[in-house]
Amino acid sequence: MKYTVITGASSGIGYETALAFAARGKNLIIVARRLDKLEELKSKIQDSHSDVDVIIRTSDLSDTANSYKLYENLKEYQVETWINNAGLGESSSVSDQSLKKVESMLRLNIESLTILSTLFVRDYSHVEGTQLINVSSALGYATYIGSITYSASKYFVSAFTEGLAKELELKSAKMKAKVLAPAVTETEFEKTAQDVEEFDYKNFMPMYHTAKQMAGFMMELYDNDKVVGIVDESYNFNLRDQIYPILGV
Ligand SMILES: NC(=O)c1ccc[n+]([C@@H]2O[C@H](COP(=O)([O-])OP(=O)(O)OC[C@H]3O[C@@H](n4cnc5c(N)ncnc54)[C@H](OP(=O)(O)O)[C@@H]3O)[C@@H](O)[C@H]2O)c1
Repeated sequence: MKYTVITGASSGIGYETALAFAARGKNLIIVARRLDKLEELKSKIQDSHSDVDVIIRTSDLSDTANSYKLYENLKEYQVETWINNAGLGESSSVSDQSLKKVESMLRLNIESLTILSTLFVRDYSHVEGTQLINVSSALGYATYIGSITYSASKYFVSAFTEGLAKELELKSAKMKAKVLAPAVTETEFEKTAQDVEEFDYKNFMPMYHTAKQMAGFMMELYDNDKVVGIVDESYNFNLRDQIYPILGV
């Protein structure tokens, strides 16, 4: 039995990505903090795909020790694909941003993603068919004034994952590393980034994708040999080779 691990599967892009992998008959390990949402997702999957095994793990990945615990706790499973999707935004100027929230964001967006990527690469880079997909953002390629710290955290995700993709290629490893870089997508993201109860994408965003569309792009990236799947300024999905310059090859 092989599994696809998806962090941040309790809502938005991660939730829809879980449904998309399940539709292909892939067994899933779904991770987030909210158990009720993960249980709802599991029963939804099992209603339509009773053959798909779904394992639930709750974890607060903004606590560094929990990333190690989660990985250790999954050692008994054979992982085929690992998707680091859990992420948090912060919409304010640097002078106004909450440092408590920023600390959590950096630990989740950068630290946890790096720990989980490293442990997965260590154990599986020689295994044919394995993939690591890290979710960055269009703001991991262009800085948005008003969310500079979040943008910078996603620059890390993009640079780290693109570099890793090249390192794996140079080592003739079997694993592929890829970056998904969504633009505005209708999820719970803006609510948590802006600390508001509700966010109306229709009224406030001129363009956006649905989470289901973004999961569709995730699957296109999964099926393709390109390293980066990025949403451009016209909201088209582009599959590209590494975007950041690479030295030392
Ligand atoms: N939506 C956008 O416009 C957009 C654009 C570009 C990139 N992205 C990226 O896409 C990814 C998915 O976000 P989304 O848009 O789907 O937002 P979302 O609906 O808010 O989903 C975020 C997911 O991350 C999980 N999560 C948050 N904090 C966590 C923590 N401390 N530990 C474990 N899990 C945690 C949440 O689950 P729990 O709350 O249950 O823990 C949820 O499942 C993120 O990396 C985000 O940066 C989003």
